[in-house]
Formats: sequence, structure tokens, C-alpha cells
Amino acid sequence: MQRIRVKKALESPSGREDVLIKGWVRTRRDAKGFSFLEINDGSCLKNLQAIIGADTAAYASLKQINTGAAVALRGALVESPGKGQKWELRVATLELIGAADATTYPLQKKRHSDEFLRSIAHLRPRTNKYGALFRIRSESACAFHHYFRQRGFYYLHTPIITGSDCEGAGELFRVTSLPPQVTGEGSLPDRFQDDFFGKPANLTVSGQLEAELFACALGSVYTFGPTFRAENSNTPRHAAEFWMIEPEVAFADLKENMDLAEDLVKKVTAHVMQHCRADLELFARFVDKRLMADLERIVDEPYTRLPYAEAVRILEKAGRRFEYPVAFGKDLQTEHERFLCEQHFKKPVIVYDYPSGIKPFYMRANDDGRTVAAMDLLVPRVGELVGGSQREERLEVIEKRMAAAGLDKRDYWWYLDIRRFGSVPHAGFGLGFERFLMMVTGVTNIRDVIPFPRTPKNLEF
Ligand code: 4AD
Ligand code: MG
Repeated sequence: MQRIRVKKALESPSGREDVLIKGWVRTRRDAKGFSFLEINDGSCLKNLQAIIGADTAAYASLKQINTGAAVALRGALVESPGKGQKWELRVATLELIGAADATTYPLQKKRHSDEFLRSIAHLRPRTNKYGALFRIRSESACAFHHYFRQRGFYYLHTPIITGSDCEGAGELFRVTSLPPQVTGEGSLPDRFQDDFFGKPANLTVSGQLEAELFACALGSVYTFGPTFRAENSNTPRHAAEFWMIEPEVAFADLKENMDLAEDLVKKVTAHVMQHCRADLELFARFVDKRLMADLERIVDEPYTRLPYAEAVRILEKAGRRFEYPVAFGKDLQTEHERFLCEQHFKKPVIVYDYPSGIKPFYMRANDDGRTVAAMDLLVPRVGELVGGSQREERLEVIEKRMAAAGLDKRDYWWYLDIRRFGSVPHAGFGLGFERFLMMVTGVTNIRDVIPFPRTPKNLEF
């Protein structure tokens, strides 16, 4: 006899005489002559209802079985007379695999707050909401891979430990194998030669620089991996460890880059809506009532595209008091980004041609002498989902930009070689995977879309 998962049992085209189900008890209800167990094994949102008659051998072993217990149930899958489910399990035998103490099990049958569930992140995937969330996370990751694979992109693994600082924002986590006393204040710079790599090493903030090298060999590549930032900003949209998807395409310009970002977000959102319907409905019901309508707009409508200068004009004329002032040359903040896509345009917006002063050295200088070919895709709820650019492919120009940014070109000889030998226009972007999940689920805190979030002063689990 075969063990089947609850999802398969619930989708069964016909009844079955003898099936084995293993899972965790969500609830137990006792009636006269019967007991009902709701069994969940994580394969889907729904529980399988199991009925245990007083006349069965299983009935005697029910005593120790409470919410949270792991059980194995054998019986017949029969049509359910009850509402809300097609099949139920008539249990013949029941085995307790692992008991759960009813008085100390933290997940009781009531709604727990997200804050409380964060403190028990090892158990929260057993709730309906977080089970659904992490199934959506899994399906979304596959959908990104599927999208690129279908379009001839190669999946590239870029290093997690690097010696470079792609974004130049200095938000690096240092990697060292030296004992603490040696890394102590003051002794660090002259000790790098004693350290593992013989020079300063850090966790990567982006795989872009390496992705550029491979795009200029394989044509179209993407990365999908963890990235790290020591930004001490305790916001609902920033994590110290997050996953980024970074496509990079040779012979592409800014326009093609924007087309790719828009198409990617649309197709993957549509995929999730199609493949995670039951799980998404939970979020549409309990987290954000406008979710489905918003997602439909994200999938169906063309995104607005406008230069940064025009976005600034709109924000200046908005008649709003923003916490951060708006002016040409200042970076857009989340409040500005959300105003543009939630209030003004009411759909995703791509802002391009940012002032060079607020963007990293690798972005291609525009002819106007003051902007670069950058683009950010802003979406409702989240603000910036994607940041990218056409890259500076002209050796003399990028060398000047690096010098201005205080970078030593000798450290980036390999990056500059790409501009020396067969240099081509190329472009790419980074999409924050967690921010994508916030967009599709309506969850407002990044800590709730990461299995075990890493944020300032938080390293539990
Ligand atoms: O805009 P960012 O900093 O761009 C880069 O790193 C480029 N090198 C990407 C490229 O062109 N290949 O980051 C890209 C995206 C942001 O738009 C945001 O969605 C996400 O990564 N992101 C974060 N997500 C969670 N927590 C953080 N601390 C994040 N910082 C950036
Ligand atoms: Mg950015």
C-alpha cells in the first residue's frame, strides 16, 4: 500500500480502498460515536478530514492525540457527505508517530499575530498562512528559472565571497578567518596579508560584476542567489540577507532592459496566480482584499515609463508633504516611489535616466552629461522592486567614473578587460526576490516572506 500526500488524496478522481496518510493533526473534534481529525501534511493548504469510528481499532489510540501530533493513518478514501471537501478518510488504523504536548505546543487554534509567529519561526510554516507563503515562495523561484530557461538564458553561480564592492555603498559584511583579537579595532588593515585570502574579503552585495563578464561570453545569463547588505536600516523592506535575481544581456540597451524587466514581472506574476491559486486566495481574503485586482493590473496593463526628471516634477507638484524632500539630484525614497505607482499612476512605473551623482560607477553615462542610463521598476505596496541599468562599455569613461568613486582600477582589472577586448553594449538589473513575494502576497514586512530572516540584532534560528 502506497503512502499518498494530502494534496493527491484531495484531488483523487475516485475513491480508494486502502491509503496511508502521514501528517500533523491540526484539530481534533470528538462527537458521539466518532472523532474527527483534521490532518495537514504541508502539501497544500487544505486539511484532510479523517473520521475515526468508535468501533475501530484506531479509536482506542486517540487519547494521546492532540493538535500538533504527527500521525500515520490508514483507511479508505470515501466521498464526504460534509460540506467543503470532496473526500474524507475513514480511518481503520492510527499510529502516533510523535506526540505534541497540548499545554505547551505554541500553535493553538486561534489567530496568532505575525510578531508572535516571527518568534517561533521554526513552527510558523505549520500555520495556514506561512505554509501558503512558503509554497508560493518555492513556486515563484521555479517560475523565475523557468522564464529564463525558456528564453535561452544561462543560470550563472556568482561567488558569495568577493573582494569587490559592486554597489559602492560600503554596506559590506566582512569575511575573515582571523581570531577576534587580531581583527580588533586598529589592527585590521595591516593584517589583511595574514587573513585567509590575503586581502579584504566580504559577502557579496550583488553578482552583477561577474554576471557582466559571463554575459559578454554566453550572451544572456542570470544569477539567482543570496546577497548581503549591512545596511543598518530597520525597515519593513530591507533584510541583511536576501535573494536577488540578476539577468544580464549582451548587445542590449536600456530600452531592451526595461522591456525584459516588465515582461519578467508580468509573466512570473501570472505564473504564480495560475499555479498557486488556493494559497494566494488566503492572502486575498485575510491579508489584503485588493490583492487580486492589483495583481491582475500588474499582469495586464503596460507599465508607465518616465524619466527621473519628470517623476521629480510630478512629486513636486503633488501637493503632498513628504517626509523626505524631493529635488533633482536626490534619490527617490519609498514614500515617493509608492506615491507614483499607488496614487498617481495606479500601476507599476519604470523611472529611468537618474542623475549620475546618486548611482554607481558602472551605469552608462548619457549624452546630457548629468544622467545615467539607469532604471528602477516601482510597484504598488513595495516601491522599488527592480534596479538596473545599461552598463558603461567605454573604457575611458568607466575609468574616470571609477576614479571619481574612489575605486582603484587595479583592483578591477578583470572587469575593465571586458571593455578592452570586444566590448559591447550590455544591460541588466537586479530584482529583489523577497520584494517580489511581498508584492504578490500583500505581506507588508520582509521578515514574513523569509524562512529565517536576518535583520539588525536578529540572528535567531
Ligand atoms: O538596486 P540594487 O541595489 O541593484 C543592484 O544591486 C544591481 N547591482 C543590480 C543589477 O543591476 N544587477 O538592488 C536590486 C534590488 C532592489 O531593487 C531591491 O528589490 C532588492 O534588490 N534589494 C533588497 N531587498 C531586500 N533587502 C535589501 N536590503 C535590499 N536591497 C536591495
Ligand atoms: Mg536600487
